Amino acid sequence: MPPLPARSAPDGYRIAAASARARLAGPDRPEVDVWTYNGTVPGVLVRLRQGEPTRLLVENRLDQETTVHWHGIRLPNAMDGVPGLTQPPIRPGENFVYEFTPPDAGTFWYHPHANSLEQLGRGLAGALIVEEREPIAVDRDLLWFLADWRLTEEGGIAPRFGNRMEAAMSGRVGNTVTLNGRGSEAESFRAGERVRLRLVNASLARIMGLRFEGHRPVIVAVDGQPCDPHEPEAGRVLLGPAMRVDIVLDLEGEPGRRYDLVDDFYDGLSYRLTQLVYDERPPMRQHASDAPRELPRNPLPEPDLAAAERHTLTLEGGMMSMGGMSSMGGMMGGGGGMMGGMHGMMGMGGGPAWAINGMSMTGDGHAGMEPALTFQRGRSAVLVLRNETAWWHPMHFHGHSLRVLSRNGKPVPHRQWQDTVLMAPKDLVEAAFVADNPGDWMLHCHVVDHQMAGMMTVLRIA
Ligand code: C2O
Ligand code: CU
Repeated sequence: MPPLPARSAPDGYRIAAASARARLAGPDRPEVDVWTYNGTVPGVLVRLRQGEPTRLLVENRLDQETTVHWHGIRLPNAMDGVPGLTQPPIRPGENFVYEFTPPDAGTFWYHPHANSLEQLGRGLAGALIVEEREPIAVDRDLLWFLADWRLTEEGGIAPRFGNRMEAAMSGRVGNTVTLNGRGSEAESFRAGERVRLRLVNASLARIMGLRFEGHRPVIVAVDGQPCDPHEPEAGRVLLGPAMRVDIVLDLEGEPGRRYDLVDDFYDGLSYRLTQLVYDERPPMRQHASDAPRELPRNPLPEPDLAAAERHTLTLEGGMMSMGGMSSMGGMMGGGGGMMGGMHGMMGMGGGPAWAINGMSMTGDGHAGMEPALTFQRGRSAVLVLRNETAWWHPMHFHGHSLRVLSRNGKPVPHRQWQDTVLMAPKDLVEAAFVADNPGDWMLHCHVVDHQMAGMMTVLRIA
């Protein structure tokens, strides 16, 4: 795997959205037509420095409109990349200059916010790393950019984005997961080393639950925001679409051995994502490094919970009564076979499949979206997210980070900051933030079919 480029580009970046070809499934499989940022899948790695202004010129060489959303970055509203809401879409042949100063160091990513289902589904996505001023000591800093594709028998990307049945269920879960743009059989390590692994789930819909056989990953950041270093619940790193998790991994296995890395999120559909393959060299150190794993915190404003206003956002819709099928969206390779047992779905007549507080905003963003809530600038707020559906939803709020306070009435252990909060069926989550970034900000499900089919709203900060 190529090491991360050492530093940020001093004059900013020039990023072209254009089609290209890539060998996604492996060296012996055909090349696939993909859409890329600067010709590669994933797109060019953007590396910025915390607190330093940057300029990113985006050139649209597609034959349709696009925009770029810098997911998780707390930036000025006009740079947020939502068509109609924060900027006019970039037309074919045109450019747009994004300029902002990233306040937070961490692992972020970027993707289109126009025709998102197809543009992201055809490969437009890349990682954005904001370097800490003082990084923690590790032997290697690695990016694992994970993406899920639906490939046909012939190896191309399956057409027909926006299947209504899928949109009302798990979304477009594919059949091929890539690590840094290719199917991976082995990732090489040396015994004794300590690596920082930046995991990004850039899938349209696939939720991942990663198990590192024989290893004990320690989570040090979620969605770019540092946390108290802790082992994942039940030993499994949960990554909903659009989420990032940074782990510190001590390679405590034996030289010459291989260890499975398994994704077993969907019941009965676990698969091996890759293997950790140790070379024959003797361990680099006798005992695991005892260097601190704790990352420096970002300058996030602490919500004043005593004074916070409370608002409930209720997620509704989708197919009901799936009788145990709700965790099963996975279905490697498939879209069929799940037709039985559906009733109670919203909008069976062709309307939106999902809603937030009874309102369905569909698509990717457009002019004239009325905010569901308006906050005075500087106020603290608690959002009560209620998932009344039978499906999982990674809920993303633009331009802010949310401090997750409780889940189903129980305080959450690390009060993690997240920009994308994964909600299990029937979950109730309380999350707080300070409304300090003026503008109209989207809040939506990052299962892109769900967003397109109505699970989206707008919050205004006056
Ligand atoms: Cu990464 Cu509006 O999304
Ligand atoms: Cu959803």
